Amino acid sequence: MGIKIIGTGSYLPERILTNRDLEKMVDTSDEWIRTRTGISERRISADNEPSSELALKASLKAIEMAKLKPEDLDLIVVATITQDRITPSTACILQNKLGAFNAACFDLQAACTGFLYSLEIVNALMSTNPKYKHALIIGVEKLSMITDWKDRNTCVLFGDGAGAVILEKRTGKHDIGGILASRLASNGSFNELIKVPAGGSEIPTSAETIKKRMHFLSMEGQEVFKLAVNEMAKACQDVLATAKVDISEVRWLIPHQANLRIIKAVGNKLEIPEEKVYINVHKYGNTSAASVVIALDEIVRSGKLDRGDYVLLTAFGAGITWGANLLRW
Ligand code: COA
Repeated sequence: MGIKIIGTGSYLPERILTNRDLEKMVDTSDEWIRTRTGISERRISADNEPSSELALKASLKAIEMAKLKPEDLDLIVVATITQDRITPSTACILQNKLGAFNAACFDLQAACTGFLYSLEIVNALMSTNPKYKHALIIGVEKLSMITDWKDRNTCVLFGDGAGAVILEKRTGKHDIGGILASRLASNGSFNELIKVPAGGSEIPTSAETIKKRMHFLSMEGQEVFKLAVNEMAKACQDVLATAKVDISEVRWLIPHQANLRIIKAVGNKLEIPEEKVYINVHKYGNTSAASVVIALDEIVRSGKLDRGDYVLLTAFGAGITWGANLLRW
């Protein structure tokens, strides 16, 4: 038996915001952004494109690749920190847009690690409950909504986008692979490192919180950097050991696309050749929960994955949360 990915899709909003555009908004330069982060441009969704719209466009592509209909879906999980509304879940809003009324739907909040968490949770649900045969997982963010466009420390880093996968439960004896091993981790003692301070039950929205710009993402960049590199590398080593797979057997390492220097440092720690480390951060910046799944879709659609290949996913984000999944294609 295996829980296999049978469809992928992604959607990036049309509007491109370049480093040159940002030079006109804050005190920064294209050169600083490229050398410190590897980012050249990012996508910004339109005012009438909430996360559920981005998710819808990515989902339809994944459903088409899987040759399914929306009513075939038994589960819809949306990993996001930029949900359409505080309640109901974006997964329910998406269900309505898709017409996927046989699915149970919920959102999952693990920041940039949300897609990896969702994969492991859906894998567990599908493995134990015979009712779940097809699941849709989406990583989606409209980070432009919570980005402080006056703060040069953060506004150069983030972008909007969505990625989706369809999982199918296969029960044939030749159905090898699927999600071989996962490591999910968190350390809430670092919850102050990346946060949106106001708008929740701790500090509700008020005229003062708006004036103090407390509804935007703030981050201790350097601290995050150090933790991210070490924890992602360790999580990767952990899943490889669990599945008894050597790093030399891995076809693709897909790290969370937060910063080119972080991506390269993780690759170096794992001693994986550079050409096996997937990079698209220059085009989209950090799209949080969407980043790994957008990258996976790009690899699949460019024909760079074959049956039996090992794919190693790793991510790190607010919480702090981090993790890795080892997939066999
Ligand atoms: N343009 C120009 N200068 C900038 C700038 C910008 N956009 N942002 C910050 N600076 C300045 C700082 O003010 C600082 O100036 P100072 O030395 O006069 O105080 C200087 O650049 C260096 O800042 P520093 O924080 O040391 O830079 P860095 O090399 O650590 O890079 C990050 C900053 C944010 C790019 C980097 O720490 C990072 O990527 N961290 C991880 C962030 C991340 O990925 N988070 C998400 C994880 S999910």
